[in-house]
Amino acid sequence: MKHWLKQPYQGYLRNHDVHSDTEITQVGPGTDGGEYLRRTWQPLALSEELTDLPLLVKILDEELVLFRTRKGVLGLVEKHCSHRGASLEFGVATDEGIRCCYHGWHFAPDGTILETPNSPKNSNHKKFCHGAYPVHEFKGIIFTYMGPPDTVPDFPLLDTYEDYHDEKSDLIPYSLYYPCNWLQIAENTQDPVHSVFLHTSISGTQFDDSWGVMPVIDWVRTPLGMMNINVRRWKNNIWLRTTETILPNYNQAGAFWERPDATKTFQRVATTRFFRPIDDTHTRVIGWRYFNDSVDPNHSGDPTAVGLDKIDAVGQIEDRDYPEQQREPGDYEAIMSQGPIAIHERETWVDTDRGVGMMRRLVREGIAAVRDGKPFTALPQDVPGVVPTFTQDSVIERPPRDGCDDDKLIREYGKRYGQIVIASAEVNPEDRKAYLQVELDKLYIDKI
Ligand code: FES
Ligand SMILES: [Fe+2]
Repeated sequence: MKHWLKQPYQGYLRNHDVHSDTEITQVGPGTDGGEYLRRTWQPLALSEELTDLPLLVKILDEELVLFRTRKGVLGLVEKHCSHRGASLEFGVATDEGIRCCYHGWHFAPDGTILETPNSPKNSNHKKFCHGAYPVHEFKGIIFTYMGPPDTVPDFPLLDTYEDYHDEKSDLIPYSLYYPCNWLQIAENTQDPVHSVFLHTSISGTQFDDSWGVMPVIDWVRTPLGMMNINVRRWKNNIWLRTTETILPNYNQAGAFWERPDATKTFQRVATTRFFRPIDDTHTRVIGWRYFNDSVDPNHSGDPTAVGLDKIDAVGQIEDRDYPEQQREPGDYEAIMSQGPIAIHERETWVDTDRGVGMMRRLVREGIAAVRDGKPFTALPQDVPGVVPTFTQDSVIERPPRDGCDDDKLIREYGKRYGQIVIASAEVNPEDRKAYLQVELDKLYIDKI
């Protein structure tokens, strides 16, 4: 039955028998979606969360225990001890691993069972290992890879992590908690028209007035996934903003308080973040906020408000009372109120939802590929250097042209610039901005 009927007062007649799209929203071990997400490195926790005590972590619907040996090596092991199931969160870190509280079994970070002191002579423990996953710590965030152990990919070093253009950045790790499925948080980033409404006209200006200008938007594939090209007319300027999804669940977004008054080229990101499932209906957004004079020239951001369960923007976590949430909703209220798992059957799409459609298609394609035993292709398995990425802001001065439909004109600028940004991935990271400056200077569109 269709979910809509052309009839007023149709509440009673609506189809209430609707279901979530399990293929692309499930995250647990053995599910299609869970297998897909287990092909790339995923953030576990902020480094600051791990003290001398083991840390119980739930990720991709698995409960695990993260610990640091007394010699400083990180380990991530199954929660329940291989002997009789006590949780290793009550274990003791040793020089070589972690020791279970119950009968003293001793595990190395890779799951090797080093000792079974309750049965030192008569044990078969050398025949098997405890479950464990590889761990990698990077710039204040601890990551893990939970896929097949024979194909551990290189940890991807995105080009945005380094400064190539004298934009010395401080990368501050942060995390946010969402009581909903990861996919709807990721989809929000490919639905940029919401900035006109949610972030400006409905809730009042949450970032900058210029975000209230209706953009023209296109979505294109990139070597790493997809991006939207969000183009706005601002007086004589055209603001060309790209926001990328790096499959399966990484995202980079540009300046939070971007205002397109001045021309600029290839200004990079204000955040790199990962929509990391806890389970099907709970998610942690973990990432870094970037602070530098380029993405935040007026110092509108506040590094001291960024960290564990906090970020320097309104409406990103459950930190306000209910009336205030209702009066000035932000991303958090919009996304979590879609439900624990957004019901896709109930949606009624318009043309600005094409990015959401593209993202679901790409996720479905990725899931099918993994199911067919093909390698994960978006992020390369072996990365010899840094991975070129595509999120940026550029502003060019190109006044409206007489007799020319300005929406069509700026869309064409966006389309062509999007192609140039993708092509520029071939250029050395150090030279990419200069290359794009030359290409942008050449970019004049006479007629449509
Ligand atoms: S349950 Fe862990 S050593 Fe016995
Ligand atoms: Fe938003």
